[in-house]
Amino acid sequence: MKKEAKEGNIGIFDSGIGGVTVLREIVKILPNENYIYYSDSKNNPYGDKKKEEIVQRCEELFGFLVERKCKVIVIACNTASAVASSYLREKYKNIPIIAIEPAYKMVHDYSYDKETIVMATKGTIESEKFNLLYHKYDNHKTKLLECVGLADVIEEGNEDKIKKYLEKNIGQYRRKVENVVLGCTHYPLIQEEIGQVLGGNVKFFNGASRLAIHLKDVLEEKDLISNRKESGKIEFIDSSLEEKTRTKKEKRFYKFLEGEEL
Ligand code: DGL
Repeated sequence: MKKEAKEGNIGIFDSGIGGVTVLREIVKILPNENYIYYSDSKNNPYGDKKKEEIVQRCEELFGFLVERKCKVIVIACNTASAVASSYLREKYKNIPIIAIEPAYKMVHDYSYDKETIVMATKGTIESEKFNLLYHKYDNHKTKLLECVGLADVIEEGNEDKIKKYLEKNIGQYRRKVENVVLGCTHYPLIQEEIGQVLGGNVKFFNGASRLAIHLKDVLEEKDLISNRKESGKIEFIDSSLEEKTRTKKEKRFYKFLEGEEL
C-alpha cells in the first residue's frame, strides 16, 4: 500500500495555463515524480466568479484528481487557494493539499520599506484569506491592484493586447514602485512585459519556488517521494470543449515548461 502511494501522481490545477509557472518550479526539485496538470479553460476566469462557484468547481477537480491516484494536490491558482483551500482541507483530510498564495510576506522579509503593488484577481484581493495575510504584513506603502481580465488576455496569448492592458492599468506606476507581488499564477509569464512598463529596477515576488520547497518537505515528511530513477511524466488535461483550444493550450503549456515565456 505504501509503495503504491509513493508512486502516485502529483495533481496540480489552475483555471488555465498559469499554474505552469508553479509546476515549472516544482519539476526543478522533484524531477522524478509523475504529474497530472488540469487546466480548467472551460470555466476560466475564476477571478471574477462567486465564491460558491469556485468552491464547487474545485471540488469537482479534486474528485477527478483523487480518482486518478494523486497522492497530493497542488492548488496552483491564487484565487482558488484564497477562496476554497480551507473548505477543501476540511473535506479531504486524507490527502495533503498545498496551496499557493501571493508572496506578500516575502516583501515584509526582504524589501519592507519600499513602494509596493500587489497584482492579483478581484477574487484574491477581496478574499478573507488574503486580507489576513495583507494586514499581518502591511508595510503601509502598498497598493492592491485588482487586475480584472489580465489572466484572460494572457490565456489568449496576444502580445499587443497584453502590452495595451499593462499600459492602461499599471502605466501610472511607472518608476513609482520598487516591489511587485505577482499574486496570480498567470502573471510570471509576462514578468518581462510588466517590468518594461514599470521601468526602473523593480523586484518581483512570486511564491512558486517557496511552494515547491514546501511540497518537497511535505512529501519527505510523509514518506511519499517516488523511488523512480528516471524523469517522471507530465500529463496535461484541459477542460475546454473545443479541440482547437485544447491543442493550442497544450502546446503553450509544454513550451512554458521548457522555459519559454510568450
Ligand atoms: N491563475 C489564477 C490565479 O492565480 C487566476 C486566473 C483567473 O482569474 O482565472 O489567481
